[in-house]
Amino acid sequence: MRNSNITYRALKRHEIRKFKQIKRHEIIEEIYYLREGKLVLEKEHWEVTQFDHMRERIQGFKKLFDEGGYLYGAFDGRKLVGLGSVCPKLIGKHCDTINVENMHVSAAYRKRGVATTIFAALKEKAVEFGGKKVYVSATPSKNTVYFYMGLGFKLTQEPIQELLEAEPEDIHMEMELCHMSGTYDFGRSTQILIRGRSYQFSADVLSQSGERKRYFKLAKKSFGLKFDTWYQSGFWDDRFIPYVLYDGRTAVSSVAVCINEVLWKNTTKRYVQISTVMTLPKYRNRRLNRWLMEHVLNEWKDKCDAIYLLANDSVVDFYPKFGFEKHTEYDFTIPVAKAPGEYRKLNVNRADDLTLLVEKYEQSNPFAQLKVKNLGLFMLHCLCFRTNDIYFIEQYDAIAIVEHRGNQMVCHEILAPPGASLVDILGVLARENTESAYLGFTPETTEDCLIVESQEEDNHLFVFPGKENIFKDNKIMFPLLSRA
Ligand SMILES: CC(C)(COP(=O)(O)OP(=O)(O)OC[C@H]1O[C@@H](n2cnc3c(N)ncnc32)[C@H](O)[C@@H]1OP(=O)(O)O)[C@@H](O)C(=O)NCCC(=O)NCCS
Repeated sequence: MRNSNITYRALKRHEIRKFKQIKRHEIIEEIYYLREGKLVLEKEHWEVTQFDHMRERIQGFKKLFDEGGYLYGAFDGRKLVGLGSVCPKLIGKHCDTINVENMHVSAAYRKRGVATTIFAALKEKAVEFGGKKVYVSATPSKNTVYFYMGLGFKLTQEPIQELLEAEPEDIHMEMELCHMSGTYDFGRSTQILIRGRSYQFSADVLSQSGERKRYFKLAKKSFGLKFDTWYQSGFWDDRFIPYVLYDGRTAVSSVAVCINEVLWKNTTKRYVQISTVMTLPKYRNRRLNRWLMEHVLNEWKDKCDAIYLLANDSVVDFYPKFGFEKHTEYDFTIPVAKAPGEYRKLNVNRADDLTLLVEKYEQSNPFAQLKVKNLGLFMLHCLCFRTNDIYFIEQYDAIAIVEHRGNQMVCHEILAPPGASLVDILGVLARENTESAYLGFTPETTEDCLIVESQEEDNHLFVFPGKENIFKDNKIMFPLLSRA
């Protein structure tokens, strides 16, 4: 099953009846309830065996199709194994919202990124339909709600009345599209010539399983990255966009764009982080990466507030070729000593711990001056690199991602309600010999901090000129877990 090749495409009208092929079966053990505006998870056992009202459903799909709706499917051979749809009608108070409907993946094909891929296509369509937001009335099962959260959906503050009345038990969620609308196209794949040789260029790697796997292989070979784990988790969203060149069936060069929401001095800005820049050794010095970098800069330079990247030693002379300028980040260290208190390690393989982590991420880091919001990227770090370093300190309702290095602890991130004390929380996690904590973010209060120019090896900040550059006049750093 794992190796079967799933293909994706819009459904034709006559294929709608294939919906019957989707196996709905699901055992649900936990259900979300919305109580006083908060999501509360409760243990409840349900076994869903099949779709009810199949005839009406199929008729509904046909009507949707006839009204210009878009049904996008995942196929294993000729069998339909996943579906999602959007209707062109703009709904909601501001007539700017597209409803995502009928997201279903056959039982045997779940947890393989199928729904994420379908959703990427639906979102593209929603933008095309003029939507500024997408809305979903989600089955309240933990897995479903958690899946949508992973995509970037949040609980809506303004439920759409007709949808709420139709499904009052559902969890009604929404997600902004405006940061993306008109900024980039999906589905771009084309042949290009570089120095007389033909390559296939794609900026639509996520939705094509073959291209995606080949890109993952390039990332693994170049940096040992486990992008597959991230993708399968459902947390890879379209804020991380790889631009890739293929030679035949091999991904040979790539530049990724990571779209971050940056919170700085009470404003939220869109910063583009250039990431995962790589070319297979055999293909280097053929100007492949130059072509990609120029393409990416051209596409993004007028669509964001700043462009930056973090480079290793081997490329400090590479990025200036595209105009990037080197800037200084600063390190912040505070004294910390062991304090009494209990903590427990979170296990990201346990759904309830993962849900807690996602919820706390929403709460963000109250001690940080410069915040970067990108759940997908944060989860990449948590799932692939910091799996063993995530702790929950119940007495402070806080999560801290911490590593011990001799008598210093490294606090990669800390998520807590406002009002808590950073030193108190870290003190609980400190060891007997701990003397200080290196902060993986710029603290709001720097009074007790030792502040020095970044001492980190193999890490150099580059900022693209002619745009915002908060590093010129401020002693700051990008949060460690926002690095792509
Ligand atoms: C850095 C890397 C992506 C360059 O890819 P590439 O496809 O060989 O680059 P190009 O051929 O397009 O080179 C573009 C220009 O940069 C120059 N260049 C390439 N690698 C360079 C390097 N490491 N340092 C300085 N200049 C470099 C080329 O000579 C060329 O110059 P020109 O256009 O003025 O003639 C590739 O060497 C690589 O994958 N390195 C390992 C991964 C890595 O460390 N990535 C950076 C992560 S921050």
